[in-house]
Amino acid sequence: MFLSIKGLAKSFGELEVLKEIDVDIEKGQVMSIIGPSGSGKTTLLRCLNALEKPSKGIFTFNDGMTLDFSKKITRKEWLELRRKSGMVFQSYNLFPHKTALENVTEGPIVVQKRNKQEVREMAVDLLEKVGLKDKMDLYPHQLSGGQQQRVGIARALAIEPELMLFDEPTSALDPELIGEVLTVIKDLAREGWTMVIVTHELHFAEQVSDQVLFMDGGYIVEKGTPEQVLKAPKEKRTQQFLQRILHP
Ligand SMILES: Nc1ncnc2c1ncn2[C@@H]1O[C@H](COP(=O)(O)OP(=O)(O)O)[C@@H](O)[C@H]1O
Ligand SMILES: [Mg+2]
Repeated sequence: MFLSIKGLAKSFGELEVLKEIDVDIEKGQVMSIIGPSGSGKTTLLRCLNALEKPSKGIFTFNDGMTLDFSKKITRKEWLELRRKSGMVFQSYNLFPHKTALENVTEGPIVVQKRNKQEVREMAVDLLEKVGLKDKMDLYPHQLSGGQQQRVGIARALAIEPELMLFDEPTSALDPELIGEVLTVIKDLAREGWTMVIVTHELHFAEQVSDQVLFMDGGYIVEKGTPEQVLKAPKEKRTQQFLQRILHP
C-alpha cells in the first residue's frame, strides 16, 4: 500500500464536491478514474497534490505519515504532502517564457534548492526519456500540444515524486497527438510508477490500469479491475456513462 484515504470530503462553500471518499492506492499500481464532468475527479487529484485542502478525511502513507484534515495541518506537513506527488495538468501549465529544459529544472532548483548542474543533467535525461532531448531549448509555443504535454510529464517527474497524478492528460490534444503521450505514460507504468490517471481514453485505461474507479456526484460509485468496471459494470450509472462515451 502507498496511501490509504479514508472519509475524504471537500466542499467549496455550500457545494459538497467530494463526499466520503475511501480509496487505497497501491504501491507500483496504476489507478484510473473515469466519470462525468463535474463529478469531482480534478478536485480529488488536487487534494492529493495539496492544491486544495480537504474539508475532512485521513491520509495514511506507507512511510508512516498521517494527515487528519479535521485537525490543523502544519506548513511542514503540507509541503511534505505536496512533495509526494507530481501533477500533469490537462492544459500542460508550462511557463511560457521558459524553455522546455527550464520548465523541467524550475521546480528542483527554485523550490527544492537542489544543485543546478545535477538538476540540469537529470532534466536532460528526463527530456530524453520523453523523446524531446532535441527540443530542450525550445519554448512552449514552439512545441506541439503533445510535445508540451511530454515536457509537462518530465517536469512532474523532475521533483522525484513517489506518486504521479494525471488529470485528463490527453483531452486537450488533437487525436493524432494523443498516442505519443499515452505511450510515455504506459512506459512509466511498466517501470513501476505509482500513478492515478483521470482519463476518458477507455482503451488506454483498460490496458494500463490495475484498478478503475467510476466517480459521479462526488462519490466513488464503482471500483474494480478494468475488466470488471469497463467491460461488466454492475452499477446502472457506470453503464450509462460508458454507453455515452462509447456511443456519443
Ligand atoms: N475552486 C472551486 N470553487 C468552487 N467550485 C469548484 C471549484 N473547483 C471545482 N468546483 C466545483 O466542483 C465540482 C467538481 O469539479 P471537478 O473536481 O473539476 O470535477 P471533474 O474534474 O470531475 O470535472 C464542480 O461542480 C465544480 O464546479
Ligand atoms: Mg476535471
